[in-house]
Amino acid sequence: MAGKRILTAKQLNKSYGPVTALQSVDIDIYEGELVAIVGDNGAGKSTLIKILSGVVQPDSGTIEMDNKPVSIRSPKEAAELGIETVYQDLALAPNLDVAGNVYLGREPIVKGLGSFFGIVNRRSMIKRVEEELRLLEVNIPSVNGLEVGSMSGGQRQAVAIARSAVWASRILLMDEPTAALGVRESEAVLRLVQRIRQRGISVVMISHILPHVIQLADRVIVMRQGSKIAELTSENLSHDRLIAMIVGYEAGEVKVVAE
Ligand SMILES: Nc1ncnc2c1ncn2[C@@H]1O[C@H](COP(=O)(O)OP(=O)(O)OP(=O)(O)O)[C@@H](O)[C@H]1O
Ligand SMILES: [Mg+2]
Repeated sequence: MAGKRILTAKQLNKSYGPVTALQSVDIDIYEGELVAIVGDNGAGKSTLIKILSGVVQPDSGTIEMDNKPVSIRSPKEAAELGIETVYQDLALAPNLDVAGNVYLGREPIVKGLGSFFGIVNRRSMIKRVEEELRLLEVNIPSVNGLEVGSMSGGQRQAVAIARSAVWASRILLMDEPTAALGVRESEAVLRLVQRIRQRGISVVMISHILPHVIQLADRVIVMRQGSKIAELTSENLSHDRLIAMIVGYEAGEVKVVAE
């Protein structure tokens, strides 16, 4: 199912003072695949996503896209490379409405004819977001005028996901996208993820919900204490195997890793 390799990160390291958040982590992302990242709290999952989304700079390591070295120094640079992110802490502007959030940081600055096309484009993007929100089956009263800060956690999550989904052209990074959602909304998010992949966009998703991981992932990266300790393909995935790796027991070996 996976196409050509579009991103390769090698030997990523990141420390915060004495804490090693990420240690010598390699990751490849192929076109249209879903990579799940699993691991206990503090394993380094969000740090890895934040490096790929330009929020955090690694202490060392390299990233290539389409076999060319890139540096992703900000979310704006990530966006220019076609990489969008749904963050664990969402990062929406609470005092703006849905339409304002969709265009946050991307307001057209061109004047004259360019600004006319900017407005047309803006209308069509907001229509697409409305469509995504409808497909997400989350009831949002209005994309215009209602402040996102007054919405429920699930509604805000849907807005963040819909926004990223319409902008991502190569890779969509999702940090616990279903954490704030009910069962029905979670299922709708997973269907959205499938549609995104059908467009040839790769999805990298952190999730603690192992049945979702097993259901969707082409590949699973298991992180523990800042290191990638295993990479499993959909053929050798099982719930018990994942649990054992996440918590640090291996088959036939009773090994407890202190957290
Ligand atoms: N900005 C920061 N300053 C200091 N330490 C940090 C910072 N960000 C992350 N860390 C530390 O780096 C380690 C990895 O954190 P990270 O957020 O990547 O974990 P995670 O796997 O996403 O965990 P969770 O499942 O709880 O979200 C943790 O020990 C964390 O405390
Ligand atoms: Mg995290």
